[in-house]
Amino acid sequence: MRTYAIVNRKGGVGKTTTAVELAFILATSCEQRVLFIDADSQGDGTALMMGGRTDQLEGAGLAEVLRYDLAYYPDVIYTTDIAGVDILPATEGLGDFELECLLGQERADLNRLRSLLDVIAEDGEYDAVVIDCPPYYSVSCLSALAACDSIIIPADCSAYSTTGMAGLVRQIDNIRRACPQVNVAGVLVTQWHRSSVGEDAVQTLREESPVPIFRTVIRRSDKAVESTWAREPVGNWSPFSAAARDYRAWVAELLEQEGQNHV
Ligand SMILES: Nc1ncnc2c1ncn2[C@@H]1O[C@H](COP(=O)(O)OP(=O)(O)O)[C@@H](O)[C@H]1O
Ligand SMILES: [Mg+2]
Repeated sequence: MRTYAIVNRKGGVGKTTTAVELAFILATSCEQRVLFIDADSQGDGTALMMGGRTDQLEGAGLAEVLRYDLAYYPDVIYTTDIAGVDILPATEGLGDFELECLLGQERADLNRLRSLLDVIAEDGEYDAVVIDCPPYYSVSCLSALAACDSIIIPADCSAYSTTGMAGLVRQIDNIRRACPQVNVAGVLVTQWHRSSVGEDAVQTLREESPVPIFRTVIRRSDKAVESTWAREPVGNWSPFSAAARDYRAWVAELLEQEGQNHV
């Protein structure tokens, strides 16, 4: 079982879109059994994966895993609209739990998610786990970093100034310091479009980044925005849009990098 965490402390860089698309492609094109974990208390990934049926969640989710150290995972895992993808959702209680930890009213144990994933791995239920992280370090984000094998960092280069680039490099250093065991699979350039700023930013990134930059870049596409509104993976909403095709090419690159077979 491979576990990927999609991380960047910046918001709006395509973390949730990338996490949803990775889970969708692994399940549909690669026929893997995938568990999607929503570690962002905003619940964007949960809403997308459940097609808005979040009222069916009955309360238990990642918050309960982090709070009570749950090991009986059938209570917190749900089916999604995508065949082959199950979800451990972000429910209402996740934001509350994060706040209680910040206030010192609850004790944060950053290894609880990892312990749960060890149990799930032993049972052999899933081939891959994809964790969508929030745009800040929180108990759920650090639990995700502690639980994953590889990190993928989406970065919207058109939005980066030189200082933004330095911030990204520093962020990667911080992640590596916090979790030396973790492999940074690479930075994925998202929402790319042809412009001198975007091209310069990607070029600088390729020259200065301390970690690999994926060869494939994800182009900016209105279909990606539409799919977010429609609460569908872009590969389902518009399979031949630039973003959907780029995500398929990127997943092939990722699996090849890991020595896994792909379609
Ligand atoms: N390739 C893309 N082209 C155009 N818009 C995109 C693309 N990827 C993501 N977006 C849009 O950017 C916004 C932020 O994306 P999201 O995945 O939610 O970022 P994050 O999770 O990092 O905050 C969303 O409205 C989404 O539809
Ligand atoms: Mg998000």
